[in-house]
Amino acid sequence: MILSTSLACGDPLQLEKDARQLISLGQNVFHIDIMDGHLVPNFCLSPEVVRALHERLDCVLDVHLMADNSQEYIGRLAECGADFLTVHLAGGARPEELLRAIRQAGMKAGIALAPGEPFERLRPCLPLADLVLIMGVRPGFSGQSFRPECIDALDKAAAYRAEQGAKYKISVDGGIDLEKGRLCRQHGADMLVMGAFSFYRNGKLQPQQVRAWAEKAEL
Ligand code: DX5
Ligand code: ZN
Repeated sequence: MILSTSLACGDPLQLEKDARQLISLGQNVFHIDIMDGHLVPNFCLSPEVVRALHERLDCVLDVHLMADNSQEYIGRLAECGADFLTVHLAGGARPEELLRAIRQAGMKAGIALAPGEPFERLRPCLPLADLVLIMGVRPGFSGQSFRPECIDALDKAAAYRAEQGAKYKISVDGGIDLEKGRLCRQHGADMLVMGAFSFYRNGKLQPQQVRAWAEKAEL
């Protein structure tokens, strides 16, 4: 199981310190939420945060872009050092085109499914995806309750992968605690985004929790 820490859940002024501590605890996959205030009603981290982490630390940068003109940011995020770039179905250009452009720019391509979006809309993207991100909450805000209906999408993503021999990873983002993490694993997830219910409490990193999760990575 890959654990990807959602750095937006932390104190922005402690971000580098938290990232270094996470690496020292064996967690070097960082989930970076970037929002444009249009596709979702909020702002968050930025491409320059991606660049700073890439230049200073040895880590994997799992960027989650919530923007309605995603195509305009692909080149910049590649240049800033993103390893994975995940976009939304409603993220601007046709999702298949976005995924091709992400791969062409040298990154792993991810596609996200938000609650309420039918899984059928993902199907044309699946042969082009390195990552399928199933949202456990409405994109935009940390700290929301996990929506159990996302389990159906997880099952479908796992079934397609098995049937077609696809290689994408399945990640779940939003509302993940230990119980939900176990449930998602049973339904095919191999990556979990860790935010307010797991690695952080009120914006403060919880090293004991990180250690406990790392030990329970098999959940
Ligand atoms: C929501 C973000 C998530 C969020 C996860 O829009 O995409 O990555 O930070 O936070 P929790 O775990 O608090 O739901
Ligand atoms: Zn996210």
